Amino acid sequence: MKKIIIILSSIIVVIFIILMVFLFNTNSKDKDIDNVKDNESTEKVKEKEDNEFSKLSYYKEENLDRYKSYETNNPNLSIEDIVTKVNLNLDKEIYTDTRPSTNLNTNYLLVNKFNYLDSNYIPENLELLDNSYAKSGIYLVKEAKDNIERLISDAKNDGMNIRVISAYRSYSYQENLYNNYVKNDGVENADTYSARPGYSEHQTGLVVDITRAFDDFNNFENTNEYNWMLENAHNYGFILRYPKDKEDITTYSFEAWHYRYVGVELAQKIKASNLTFDEYYVRYLESDNN
Ligand code: DAL
Ligand code: ZN
Repeated sequence: MKKIIIILSSIIVVIFIILMVFLFNTNSKDKDIDNVKDNESTEKVKEKEDNEFSKLSYYKEENLDRYKSYETNNPNLSIEDIVTKVNLNLDKEIYTDTRPSTNLNTNYLLVNKFNYLDSNYIPENLELLDNSYAKSGIYLVKEAKDNIERLISDAKNDGMNIRVISAYRSYSYQENLYNNYVKNDGVENADTYSARPGYSEHQTGLVVDITRAFDDFNNFENTNEYNWMLENAHNYGFILRYPKDKEDITTYSFEAWHYRYVGVELAQKIKASNLTFDEYYVRYLESDNN
């Protein structure tokens, strides 16, 4: 009997020891996992603190690696410019990673080499411009039309003679135009001054190409009308869309004649900011409207 009691007690002691060892192991594993988690989140917080990009209101977490590599390749750019350019996809090849434009039929509509309009998109409220302001058969969205007519009349009172030579262009019109440029000049050159179909701002119905009346538009830069536009266009809701020295942002050569309607209030803000529409859009409009 005594022997049995000793054996049973030993078994109980062994079971107890095994149980204790098991419990201890589980507990310390949990602690290890907790420690790893703690370390990970501290690292994340630290990375965020070290991440100067994240201070900007237009910072996008999903772009962080791209900001970093863009900064490595362009060490002289400011943090603002790096985040703006990456958000515009300017770290990518033109016409790659494209997306459909949002804000259709609004003055905030952004169309560029990464944001396109559907081939069926025709803006609402297109109206024919009067022949006294434009070549025949030229259409614009009504609000833009009213303002360009007001602009041309006021400019006339200042001795300026401004005329619209192109405005709304359909997808198929742009397709012909672009293909002709490519045929004569090659894709690489054509892409610096002509948009591919679907990617032209002219399809928005919010754009005018202007000249001094009956002069070649290529000479517009050398006219008083051009200077008048630089000083006054924003008060009629128009901005110079492809300025000089901003080719790295717009991806187009300077176009002295191409003005975009965005509404008076926004045009005045953009003018004061010295930013292109693309930059202003990324910094101040994108998060408000998307
Ligand atoms: N010339 C401008 C960029 C266009 O083709 O829309
Ligand atoms: Zn144009």
